[in-house]
Amino acid sequence: MDSKNQLQHQSTYLALILLLGASLVCEATSRTSLEDASMYERHRQWMSKFGRVYSDNNERHKRFNIFRQNVALIDSFNNANNKPYNLAVNQFADLTNEEFTASRNGFKGHMCSNKATPFIYENITALPSTVDWRTKGAVTPIKDQGQCGCCWAFSAVAAMEGVTKLTTGTLISLSEQELVDCDTKGEDQGCQGGLMDDAFQFIQKNKGLTTESNYPYKGVDGTCNTNEESNHAATINGFQDVPANSEDALQKAVANQPVSVAIDASGFEFQFYSSGVFTGSCGTQLDHGVTAVGYGKDDDGTKYWLVKNSWGSSWGEQGYIRMQRDVDAKEGLCGIAMQASFPTA
Ligand SMILES: *[C@@H]1O[C@H](CO)[C@@H](O)[C@H](O)[C@H]1NC(C)=O
Repeated sequence: MDSKNQLQHQSTYLALILLLGASLVCEATSRTSLEDASMYERHRQWMSKFGRVYSDNNERHKRFNIFRQNVALIDSFNNANNKPYNLAVNQFADLTNEEFTASRNGFKGHMCSNKATPFIYENITALPSTVDWRTKGAVTPIKDQGQCGCCWAFSAVAAMEGVTKLTTGTLISLSEQELVDCDTKGEDQGCQGGLMDDAFQFIQKNKGLTTESNYPYKGVDGTCNTNEESNHAATINGFQDVPANSEDALQKAVANQPVSVAIDASGFEFQFYSSGVFTGSCGTQLDHGVTAVGYGKDDDGTKYWLVKNSWGSSWGEQGYIRMQRDVDAKEGLCGIAMQASFPTA
């Protein structure tokens, strides 16, 4: 082989390697862009399902990337199939967990401690094995707090709607917005957070609360409508704290009426909970107010609390979550037994 020939040979070889390399890169790119294309299509369908519109292409690109990451985690959680509950690509799928919790979880409870108060249900012994206040007509349809951290108002109002039904026989949907706008002289700060006990205190002092239809929900802080503030559709005469860190005590209370509970709802799995009995993971940094409207036992024997949330009915089980009950930790799952309370009427 002369040197010219050898050079030719070498360059053919080089070209071949380059070609091979290029085709490998090419294949990898096309696989990624296929995945991208189908994820892009999934995002597009999700946007149309939940009526999401972005201001510009930058925002859309940013949201698409968050969506893609969430979907990957949700799919891998569901595919692992090793928990008694499932996640879903719900309406919160284009929000990071930080964004999500910042705009919704406005329970300020970890700042204060429960004092010991009387507990009217302490000596109750005969407890039904299953309770569902929805079947007794004591629970209004699922509401949606939107991007306002006033979960505390929704939690307190749901508990008050329950006790009102049980004492008067009438279920009336009551106003969260009145609490957001008017209960501003104490700890409660509308969309910036508050406490269910303080809401009960305000309602007691104000001698009642008006209806949802008289004072509809807006999802932003507003000026108190004093006419509606003095229009009382229902009233309470006080509230009680459930003895802390006892799921037994909580069960006694929930057996008798819907109860406001504070939980740690900050986890990714809570954000995307879809169905089944939620068993965590979660901590006990209480940041969200919800309402326990029953309890029971799943077919496989797992005991649960039936909890009404305020994130609309496309989250969870039509707006509800079943959370594991009687766990080893005395605080209960996600701290559910730490700061429960209920209004008295
Ligand atoms: C529960 O029983 C104890 C002991 O008999 C009694 O002192 C207490 O007042 C009872 N509590 C209620 C709420 O009835």
